[in-house]
Amino acid sequence: MMDKVLVTRRVFQSALDLLATRAEVLVSPHDRDLRAEELLEMSAGCRALMTMPADRIDRPFLTARPEVAMVANDAVGYDNIDLAVARELGVVVTNTPGVLTEATADLTFILLLAVMRRLVEGDRLLRAGLFEGTAPMFMLGTDPKGKTLGVFGFGRIGQAVARRARAFGMNVIYHDVQPLAEAAREVEAEYVSFEELLARSDAISINALLNDKTRGVFNYQVLSRMKPTAFLVNAARGPIIVEADLARALEEKVIAGAALDVYEFEPQVNPKLIGLENVILAPHMGSATREAREGMALLAARNIVAFLEGGEPPTRLV
Ligand code: GLV
Repeated sequence: MMDKVLVTRRVFQSALDLLATRAEVLVSPHDRDLRAEELLEMSAGCRALMTMPADRIDRPFLTARPEVAMVANDAVGYDNIDLAVARELGVVVTNTPGVLTEATADLTFILLLAVMRRLVEGDRLLRAGLFEGTAPMFMLGTDPKGKTLGVFGFGRIGQAVARRARAFGMNVIYHDVQPLAEAAREVEAEYVSFEELLARSDAISINALLNDKTRGVFNYQVLSRMKPTAFLVNAARGPIIVEADLARALEEKVIAGAALDVYEFEPQVNPKLIGLENVILAPHMGSATREAREGMALLAARNIVAFLEGGEPPTRLV
């Protein structure tokens, strides 16, 4: 009998075709986030799952479904999965690094330029019928050239953002748990303490994993130590920022602006942010290109197939 695999959202057919060579594939009939009970019910009898960032794979789930021996997250972030519990229970976990690096760095940089140049605000103004012709003092933004970008989290995506920043004439500084000398040399990025990152950056790009060290780091006190002219971009995970504190800081002009792709209580967005002009709000679409999303689903499928065949999944975390 073929192993059963659950895929919790609609994904590229090529990935489903690959899975079907080795498994009986069940795709959730609802193309939406599943409630915990639905995920539990649909996983019955499944040996492997292809999960999404909204699927919580925690102790209650893994103990209730001992038949699930492998979880392939269709994302590079894996804060939705309790890796310690997976390790303890002998459940294999994989993610999708690499294939979405450029797409996510592109979106990060799009957000940065868009907030610095007030593009979305301008679009809103025009649609509201308020465009009366350009003028020398109209819609003034900020040049990236000569400014300092601070990258918080200097992994694959953070480094790819740094490369883009260099191409736009920005200086790059970064903070991570430790210096990454070789990667930093390539983009001429300088390792700095967190305090220095806050004090020196004209814009900060958050490209870190969400974990115990990064959760809630950007609170009101921290935002207050940034320059009043600085911008904050987050295309990583929402809970790295205390969203209510960011809304307050933007309202009080503690910083100049922000551009977000992710939210603390996703898919909910703090209503205070919705009313502010100096923030861009994107709907978690960092890796949303056809190329990246097909690459992610295929990599997740390859991980599952390798596991079911008794081999080593290519991008195994646990
Ligand atoms: C998306 O959010 C990812 O982590 O890949």
